[in-house]
Amino acid sequence: MKKIIAGNWKMYGEPAMAEALSVAVARHAEALPDTVSVVICPPAVLLAQVSGWIAGARRTKTGGQSCHNRPEGAFTGDISAKMVKDAGADYVIIGHSERRQYHRETDSQISEAAALALKSGLCPIICVGESEEERKSGRANEVVGAQVAACLPDAAKDHDFVLAYEPVWAIGSGATPTLADIEAMHAHILSVAAAATGKKAGGITVLYGGSVKADNARDILQVPGVSGVLVGGASLKADDFCRIITAAV
Ligand code: PGA
Repeated sequence: MKKIIAGNWKMYGEPAMAEALSVAVARHAEALPDTVSVVICPPAVLLAQVSGWIAGARRTKTGGQSCHNRPEGAFTGDISAKMVKDAGADYVIIGHSERRQYHRETDSQISEAAALALKSGLCPIICVGESEEERKSGRANEVVGAQVAACLPDAAKDHDFVLAYEPVWAIGSGATPTLADIEAMHAHILSVAAAATGKKAGGITVLYGGSVKADNARDILQVPGVSGVLVGGASLKADDFCRIITAAV
């Protein structure tokens, strides 16, 4: 089973660091078997440059961190799916919890953005996840299942897409769910996504994200239903991210 290791740089990085990091990661991944795919998601202004620096790499692609839910228009500061594609990306993260929280993105906007991503030839990485309060009150399955059903566009029926389970309380906190909890949630997400798209659960890719580090990546990547990881903080250091990539082999 193929594994995807995606790095979300968030609002970090400047050109010299971005070049050194992306080239080191792509070089590392090149030596690995084709069961591993790496996706680097730099800030939008670095996307075209990073795509250029790693052009020709077989195992490493780039992704945007977000795209708008309209194809174009008077939306100052925003970026369309086609612009992300034109910058050389193959993927785009959509509906990350930081976008939901700070930019008030809703499930329906996320679904529209994902549809535009697919139309533009991008593979969307659609993020879902419960808050700490929702988990503590026993509503995690209900909340995440509803997000999956609402965020998957119709076009997901006939295109490849990626889901990322990122419990909000695990992002940047150092805390992670137990492996059993990750397994249970991935099984739930796979069954909801399969029902929503008519696809077989075994053919759907669900990444885990939230405090993935070099020392817990191998265990997480072996959990049934986990087809890869979405890494924030640890994707900014070449050594750490390369160790996570190796853990997927
Ligand atoms: P983290 O972030 O790895 O720093 O917890 C993950 C994410 O936000 O995608």
